[in-house]
Amino acid sequence: MSFRVQPTPAARPNRCQLFGPGSNTKLFAKMAASAADVINLDLEDSVAPNDKPQARRNIIQASHEIDWNTKYLSVRINGLDTPYWYRDIVELLEEGSERIDQIMIPKVGCAADVYAVDALITAIETAKGRTKKVSLEVIIESAAGIAHVEEIAASSPRLQAMSLGAADFAASMGMQTTGIGGTQENYYMLREGAKYWSDPWHWAQTAIVAACRTHGILPVDGPFGDFSDDEGFRAQALRSATLGMVGKWAIHPKQIALANEVFTPSDAAVLEAREILAAMEDAKARGEGATVYKGRLVDIASIKQAEVIVRQSEMIKG
Ligand code: COA
Ligand code: MG
Repeated sequence: MSFRVQPTPAARPNRCQLFGPGSNTKLFAKMAASAADVINLDLEDSVAPNDKPQARRNIIQASHEIDWNTKYLSVRINGLDTPYWYRDIVELLEEGSERIDQIMIPKVGCAADVYAVDALITAIETAKGRTKKVSLEVIIESAAGIAHVEEIAASSPRLQAMSLGAADFAASMGMQTTGIGGTQENYYMLREGAKYWSDPWHWAQTAIVAACRTHGILPVDGPFGDFSDDEGFRAQALRSATLGMVGKWAIHPKQIALANEVFTPSDAAVLEAREILAAMEDAKARGEGATVYKGRLVDIASIKQAEVIVRQSEMIKG
């Protein structure tokens, strides 16, 4: 380990972030009653320009009136390249209740984007005497965002989570696809005439996970557009979980249970992790740093791997 110890991220479950347009008030109570850990009320791309002012009023009202129970409540503001974002923050934090936990900044391209939002939030919180400091989450969904991902991860003590936004990311990168996450038909290798599909989102995901883990931020996989394709969602989510991401967005309620299932360590995985820890305890008692578990090597690094699974499981249960 480097002399600089890896910080731990916020200790809260973030398996599923359920989105809903701020203009669609019918959905709010359903979102609050859902099984998602995080609720994202949207002011950005699911809200038409003419509806932005009313969507802000809706979210402010919902922050006062709806029982969000234990949900982590986040509001996605508009991007810093629009004329809307400053009003989003001013109105939300001057008039919204303290139930608002987090602000999500889309299309972040550099650390200064987060700095600007942090400065505005800090001024409003101080002026209004708000007692709760809101946290921040960002979406990496542009070429600039992925190029500057590490400075963004280090940008603010308010920052808790970072998501990959596949659709805008693909557009910004000039990727030839209209798919939102998942397998892309033309991204394959050929071997003896047979096609083997590969994962075009992989490098962006791993870059995000590395930046997040370096700075104690929760890495999250963004939307999967085809909400009729449960198996496609599950495959994408399993890859993200394997790479170190802690959760995934849901853009339809169907996707919530799938995300919760994938990002909750299974009983079998937790049992195996505990057995590895026990095997290593026995090895330690014998003065050994490595031993054999089910015919394979486990050593001191295996303790850390097993602890990732056990800690995640305990945090979710707790
Ligand atoms: N949150 C909570 N409930 C939702 C929901 C959501 N995001 N989306 C749909 N529902 C509800 C519907 O109201 C409906 O409820 P009912 O059975 O009580 O009538 C039920 O789930 C089934 O909905 P369905 O008819 O399949 O979908 P729809 O046509 O009403 O809506 C979308 C489809 C995609 C427009 C809608 O799911 C949506 O707005 N998703 C969020 C989009 C978004 O926020 N995008 C920004 C981030 S990428
Ligand atoms: Mg986007």
